[in-house]
Amino acid sequence: MFAYGCHHNRSMQHVRKFGGPVLKQVLPWGRRPGDKNGTFQGDLMSNFKTIDDLDVAGKRVLVRLDLNVPMRDGRITDTTRIDRSMDTIRELTAAGAAVIVISHFGRPKGQVVPEMSLRPVARALAQALSRDVAFATDCIGPEAEAAARAVAMGGVTMLENLRFHAEEEANDMDFADQLAGLANFYVNDAFSCAHRAHASTEAIARLLPSAAGRLMQAELDALSKALDIPQRPVAALVGGAKISSKMTVLGHLVNQVDVLIIGGGMANTFLHAQGIDIGKSLCEAEMADAALDILSKAVAAGCKVVLPIDAVVAKEFAEGTAPQTVLLDAIPSDAMMLDVGPASAADLMARVANCKTLLWNGPLGAFEVKPFDAATNTLARETARLTTEGSLISVAGGGDTVAALVNAGVKEDFTYVSTAGGAFLEWLEGKELPGVAALKA
Ligand code: 3PG
Ligand code: MG
Repeated sequence: MFAYGCHHNRSMQHVRKFGGPVLKQVLPWGRRPGDKNGTFQGDLMSNFKTIDDLDVAGKRVLVRLDLNVPMRDGRITDTTRIDRSMDTIRELTAAGAAVIVISHFGRPKGQVVPEMSLRPVARALAQALSRDVAFATDCIGPEAEAAARAVAMGGVTMLENLRFHAEEEANDMDFADQLAGLANFYVNDAFSCAHRAHASTEAIARLLPSAAGRLMQAELDALSKALDIPQRPVAALVGGAKISSKMTVLGHLVNQVDVLIIGGGMANTFLHAQGIDIGKSLCEAEMADAALDILSKAVAAGCKVVLPIDAVVAKEFAEGTAPQTVLLDAIPSDAMMLDVGPASAADLMARVANCKTLLWNGPLGAFEVKPFDAATNTLARETARLTTEGSLISVAGGGDTVAALVNAGVKEDFTYVSTAGGAFLEWLEGKELPGVAALKA
């Protein structure tokens, strides 16, 4: 795909170039060499099996991918997660395995939701592989069993959305057992959902001989190399709309980073918590106390929290609505914040220029619709410029974040771009990810 190999080499040059002082006397991300929580390369290699360790010829291999790709109006808007899954599938099929792909898509919460079918993703996978990919309308039961039997050695089949069954997210052992019954081996290449202890990422690894796929290996390797000894000051930008699921992470990140920039829907909740009238903006009001708690933790940790100072608002989230730039005390009650304003974007550019490392997860605004991509584009392009000139290490991650960087035209100019969003943040916290832990011998 996007020449991650060479990109990655270049990133390592950046890392070598900076020998700046480590300002905080905290070991990187709370880990120490030899910690059992470490995700160091050495740790990874000594504890993991990879597909090199499996004799897959003539065997069925269940491959857990994260094909939770960004989609709009039934069309895939960014294929990064598909593209980066190719290496593992190609290697396994070339080695004579029958590959059975499993994944989740969206959050259907245990119901069959037709809009969240993986069928269009199976078509995209077939296109990327330039080969047929069969599709089964269920991931367990007779449909799945027939599909698993039917796939030829060297062939690929894909099963329907795991999350159509509530047992998946419940990490249910019987459900995992039914999945395990479809194959001889289990390969996990879904680093971006390794922070979820679900049946297809955790329980199943206890039931089949298991190994990490190439993307899982590459992600852990690249993140460790770029960030185990971070160049400070470090800024983290967290935006996007998955507010409640990222709150806990923010509470930990304030201990790890020097500057925490909050944007997107996340910022609205913080502004609301501070008593600012945010009109009809996306907000999780019940998270207000959690937001205030994070702000006081940040003060205690000496971490500067940066919130927007102006906003672009509109009455509707749609193309062609008349957007307005307002200061935070002038948000109309019938309007919603859809991007941070130009003063905020300028403020963030200056702050990022003063840092040596930027970790980015989540867009600053609703970038899918113009002109609400403006601030994200401005900051992404400045980050790319600083990275190219050698003064910043930039690591971004997440399905929407990657799509936003593609939209800004700068994805190739970041030091490293991960497929993982939530998992990336939890990895930064220094947590052992359940999907990674389950692969260890
Ligand atoms: C993601 O997009 O971050 C992963 O696919 C995990 O999705 P989830 O947050 O719905 O578990
Ligand atoms: Mg996502």
